[in-house]
Amino acid sequence: MGKGRLWKRSLRAGVLTLLAVAFTGCAIGNGPQSVNRPAGDSMRKIWDLFLPIFWLSVVIFVLVTAILLFALWRFRQRPGEDRHPEQLHGNTRLEIAWTMAPAVILAIIAVPTLSLIFELDRKPGPEALTVRAIGHQWWWEFQYPELNVVTANELHLVVDRPVRIELHSVDVIHSFWVPRLAGKRDVIPGWNNVLTFTPQEVGVFPGQCAEFCGIQHANMKFTVVVQTQEEFDAWIRQQQQPAAEVPADPLAAQGRELFLTPANACMGCHTVAGTEAQGKVGPDLTHVGSRGIIAGGMLENTPENLARWLRNPQAVKPGNKMVLPRQLTDQEIQALVAYLTSLK
Ligand code: CUA
Repeated sequence: MGKGRLWKRSLRAGVLTLLAVAFTGCAIGNGPQSVNRPAGDSMRKIWDLFLPIFWLSVVIFVLVTAILLFALWRFRQRPGEDRHPEQLHGNTRLEIAWTMAPAVILAIIAVPTLSLIFELDRKPGPEALTVRAIGHQWWWEFQYPELNVVTANELHLVVDRPVRIELHSVDVIHSFWVPRLAGKRDVIPGWNNVLTFTPQEVGVFPGQCAEFCGIQHANMKFTVVVQTQEEFDAWIRQQQQPAAEVPADPLAAQGRELFLTPANACMGCHTVAGTEAQGKVGPDLTHVGSRGIIAGGMLENTPENLARWLRNPQAVKPGNKMVLPRQLTDQEIQALVAYLTSLK
């Protein structure tokens, strides 16, 4: 292989690797969690600051590398040559120049960055929606204290209305992150952080716990459903209904019986508003049938997945807190699935 071809090949491999790193590792692209497609005011401001700083860094990198490569080539030792390069030690002018230049560049980056950090920490007006997001190993609880609604793993917000998210944890440190809407914020036990932003696009945005919090950290996901005010109000009205009535379907009614039998332990951990089930360890199931995801965002909410979960939750998500006192029969699982899906 000629020298030229080898050089070309290495260059191509290098560029491809860099692109792969940039487009996968940094969540840039066309994916559901790509930060380059902001759908909230905070993320838009962060991205608008990141881009010029990124290109400034590219220019500096190219410039420094080009000067370095040029110097290596131009002042290399030639065959038969035996001289020492000119020594620059103690050159005050140069020392000042290469101390000042990085200081100026850092100042250019620091001023807008710091002012944006303060801006993002602003207090929202009285029109803001307040949500309490509570991190559990490994799922998210969402409470709307002013609206008397509690749900899990699926956060509903209103487009163009600021939201004030109070972040709590019941166990370890988690981190609340919806890449297309806002930056991350840690969820720390005993320390209540607040995250404020305004969603600007109607849609469904996947979120993810972004702080290692145990073996199922990667399965601590959630979705944010951004709706119009009317859609949101309808959702709230539905979530405010208690789920007390005995379902008409006999299979679902049997599932309700099983759920409310103390020996089966469901009600020790879960709440179904309007029943004796008032447990607070696991997700509130009052309207579990209306949610798109279950098991901390790990599974789509389908009857098959619910059955899979009830058959053996530890096989689906090892280490989670749901431990059945006994193996349920297939018939019992079908009845419980019918009951849970009826909880719209
Ligand atoms: Cu919670 Cu990672």
